[in-house]
Amino acid sequence: MNPKPLSSPSTYTQGHSAAVVASHASRTVENSAAFLLPHLQPHFTIVDLGCGPGTITRGFCPHVPNGSVIGIDAAGSVIEMARSGAPESEYPNLSFRVGDITSRLPCDDNSVDVVYTSQVLFHIPAPVRVIKEALRVLKPGGMLAMRETDTLIYHPANAGTEAFTATMAKAVSSPGAQGIGSGRRIHLWAQEAGFERPKMQVRAGATCHPAPDESKWWANIQVERLQGEIGRKWVGELQLVSQDEIDAMIAGLKTWGDSPEAWYVALQGEVICWK
Ligand SMILES: C[S@@+](CC[C@H](N)C(=O)[O-])C[C@H]1O[C@@H](n2cnc3c(N)ncnc32)[C@H](O)[C@@H]1O
Repeated sequence: MNPKPLSSPSTYTQGHSAAVVASHASRTVENSAAFLLPHLQPHFTIVDLGCGPGTITRGFCPHVPNGSVIGIDAAGSVIEMARSGAPESEYPNLSFRVGDITSRLPCDDNSVDVVYTSQVLFHIPAPVRVIKEALRVLKPGGMLAMRETDTLIYHPANAGTEAFTATMAKAVSSPGAQGIGSGRRIHLWAQEAGFERPKMQVRAGATCHPAPDESKWWANIQVERLQGEIGRKWVGELQLVSQDEIDAMIAGLKTWGDSPEAWYVALQGEVICWK
């Protein structure tokens, strides 16, 4: 790996607590990469940037039985988790490595069929530089597939869920990251990086957690976040809210999760760019 940094150290603000990683581990190729699956061929090489606990990454393996899949993440702890969830005996064509994706990627020019990102570019201040690296490593005809957050909706909303969503947006952007609202701009970043608009598929998808079971599960994960590392960070280091405001968010999330009408949707930009 060439360690030359292209930008600042990781600006990821969510930490890797059990609650945070649990929400990432609920992601699969079916719910997070369906827009890409029809384009995969059995011999493809796929690189998943900011792969987290690797549940999406390992899900690519059966789609490329004669190819290979590599997951890269800056956090050693989640890479360990990704490795332990994917034993080599079951996933012989999968590997994970610790690395900063804002550095030069550990791949030769024109060597990769697919670069995939899910929920990572919006945590980075200069995503265009990462996309330029993707363009470098992709083979001619290769694909960059991005799925990045745009809008978070809690229905029926209450003061607690509204404050939670607004504070989350501020926290994610606090280190200069692009933040929530990026889904509608990822194709523009790709154009800035050198991909051509006629060779893009620009669409949107959604993550949905409705009542009764999924909303309760999702509310519990957010409550655990607020009761743990993230809540402490918002009150302490970032000074975005008071502890009383955190408590009001927790109450609001619990009320929302128990509502028979509860419906959470994260609107996602889903873009494929062909080199
Ligand atoms: C929101 S999680 C998404 C994980 C996974 N892609 C998914 O969709 O479930 C973002 C991940 O990106 C990683 N990350 C953030 N900045 C990074 C960087 N500069 N280099 C490598 N990984 C990074 C974090 O450690 C975290 O695991």
